Amino acid sequence: MSPPLITVVGSVNLDFVATARTLPSPGETVTGATLARYPGGKGANQALAAKRLGAEVRMIGRVGADSMADEALALLRAGGIDLAGVGVDASAPTGAALLAVAEDGENQIVVASGANHAIRPEHLPAVIDGALILQLEIPFDTIEAAVARATGFVCVNLAPAAEIPQAILDRADLLIANEGEADFYGPKLHKGDGLVAVTWGSRGAGLFRHGARVATAEPPEIVAVDTTGAGDTFVAALTLALLEGQAPKEALRFACAAGALTATRAGAQPSLPTRAEVEGILAR
Ligand code: RIB
Repeated sequence: MSPPLITVVGSVNLDFVATARTLPSPGETVTGATLARYPGGKGANQALAAKRLGAEVRMIGRVGADSMADEALALLRAGGIDLAGVGVDASAPTGAALLAVAEDGENQIVVASGANHAIRPEHLPAVIDGALILQLEIPFDTIEAAVARATGFVCVNLAPAAEIPQAILDRADLLIANEGEADFYGPKLHKGDGLVAVTWGSRGAGLFRHGARVATAEPPEIVAVDTTGAGDTFVAALTLALLEGQAPKEALRFACAAGALTATRAGAQPSLPTRAEVEGILAR
């Protein structure tokens, strides 16, 4: 069987990560951190996660005409993602994210979208075949256009939470939200006919249809180092597992394990697991 084709339309960022003992409260200064830079962005993370787990992946996005772009795209390029749909916009810098990561792996993220906000509907192909994954770090009219042009399975990761047209929620075959995002959307999350996955961090995730729970899974026990990218891995893994025809419970277990593995390592893209790693931890 040939690997499923997934197109990701979404954000590409360079992450600047300060790791400290605790996260700052509003107005507080935390000292003693170490600084690192990693390729990130929810779209790019989901694209690379899907590829490492076994999909054929095309990325559509926008970066600036600057040196951050090369750094932000380096692991996608090395990972064999089709980047023909990633354009360069001279009017804005490459997207950047400032992350604070605490000892227990929790994080806070501030995103400076830059060129991610320059992805317009005209940058999309007329028809998007195969499966499509979207998140909410790019303009909503571009998301709407991508959904309208998709001929196959559509997954929308509702992160970060934002008011989006109900038509997007209704068309999605799979909506994915964390606890806070699920609270933000409330009952309208469950109005469509697609599946809805809600993640509960280290407590696992549930899969729902029309508001009724169809599956629940827990992640394997891990020691969290940095949770950045765990949600993105979950999105890619659940989409791929469902495309492969895995049963809901099995697909959710696969996605929880993939997300958990991501949290065991530092950085977004360097920590994305391979298929063999996920199958290995599931077999334990
Ligand atoms: O989901 C994690 C990602 O969110 C980070 O890589 C950061 O770039 C932000 O987009």
